[in-house]
Amino acid sequence: MELMLKIKENAVKLQNHIVLPEGSEIRTLKATEQILKERIARITLLGNRSEIEAIAMKEGLSVSGARIIDPATDANRERYAGIMVELRKNKGLTLENAYELLNDPLYFGVMMIKAGDADGEVAGAINATGDVLRPAFQYVKTLPGVSVVSGLFFMIFKDKNIGDNGMLVFADCAVMPDPGPFQLAEIAVTTAASAKAIANIEPRVAMLSFSTKGSAQHELVNKVAEATKIAAGMNPELLIDGEMQLDAALVPEVGQLKSPGSKVAGRANVLIFPGLESGNIGYKLVQRLAGAEAIGPVLQGMAAPINDLSRGCSVSDIVNMVAITANQAGSKKDKG
Ligand code: ACO
Repeated sequence: MELMLKIKENAVKLQNHIVLPEGSEIRTLKATEQILKERIARITLLGNRSEIEAIAMKEGLSVSGARIIDPATDANRERYAGIMVELRKNKGLTLENAYELLNDPLYFGVMMIKAGDADGEVAGAINATGDVLRPAFQYVKTLPGVSVVSGLFFMIFKDKNIGDNGMLVFADCAVMPDPGPFQLAEIAVTTAASAKAIANIEPRVAMLSFSTKGSAQHELVNKVAEATKIAAGMNPELLIDGEMQLDAALVPEVGQLKSPGSKVAGRANVLIFPGLESGNIGYKLVQRLAGAEAIGPVLQGMAAPINDLSRGCSVSDIVNMVAITANQAGSKKDKG
């Protein structure tokens, strides 16, 4: 797939350092072997060294190019615990709590990033989304000026007439259960920026609803209309329109009919869903019934890239997510 090839090539140039907290998990080790072979990123595996080496040997995997750190004994524990207490003493975190949390590789990985010892993290092959995200929200936090983290999918279609050369971007499909108008506006602006930075497309953003430009009256419709105005104020250059129904967003004749003169209707390539229910169900419908490939969720809005895997992920899903994470880290450094 063209997009993933470009993302991997760029990752090879960047040589970012990605931490994988689920270091003794077999798919993670298989992915590590491939990542090192293709030089996609520098890798640190978290876990017990002898356990990781024994599994790798049993599976015939070569992961000797990866660094292995045991969160339970590493010399950086003291430094990380100090940073944790400093950041969350107002929430009642003690040094003892911090040392306890650092035994959890998901907290340790996040603290490596916070302390500047790694560029990004990928986890979730054996941990639930909430458990991967919570340490990241608490310690890495959001980018300056951003208040919500959200998750986008690149939806890749065999039919190149759909979206931008066969690609649409969907968000939020992974994080915010019920965004308010301001949060929805932020999700739209952040997704447009990610679509440009990662996939190099010129975003045309449709704010989706069950109504097009006042065709239905409901507080849920008002929320999307208000979010559209706020987003346009946040980024006046952005091509964004709403509220609109899905057919008005994607089908030129319907867009022209329901929203005449709109620069987005009928030709949207970024679809912003009004809440997580529609976003999560929507991407899975398109993936399962239209046969589109879904790349993601790519988490955005975090101060450093941390991405969550599905527990049903394959080895190549992990390799791809590490490459995407390495790209996100690279683009942050470029911005200084
Ligand atoms: N962006 C930034 N920070 C956030 C966000 C967000 N979207 N949500 C919560 N936070 C912060 C809070 O401000 C809080 O910070 P603080 O402790 O410094 O005050 C911290 O995270 C914890 O907040 P809680 O409200 O206690 O959040 P909780 O841990 O209960 O839930 C979570 C957060 C787990 C992400 C929740 O929103 C959730 O479960 N979302 C759905 C995830 C999911 O299941 N997605 C579907 C599966 S993914 C897929 O299918 C692709």
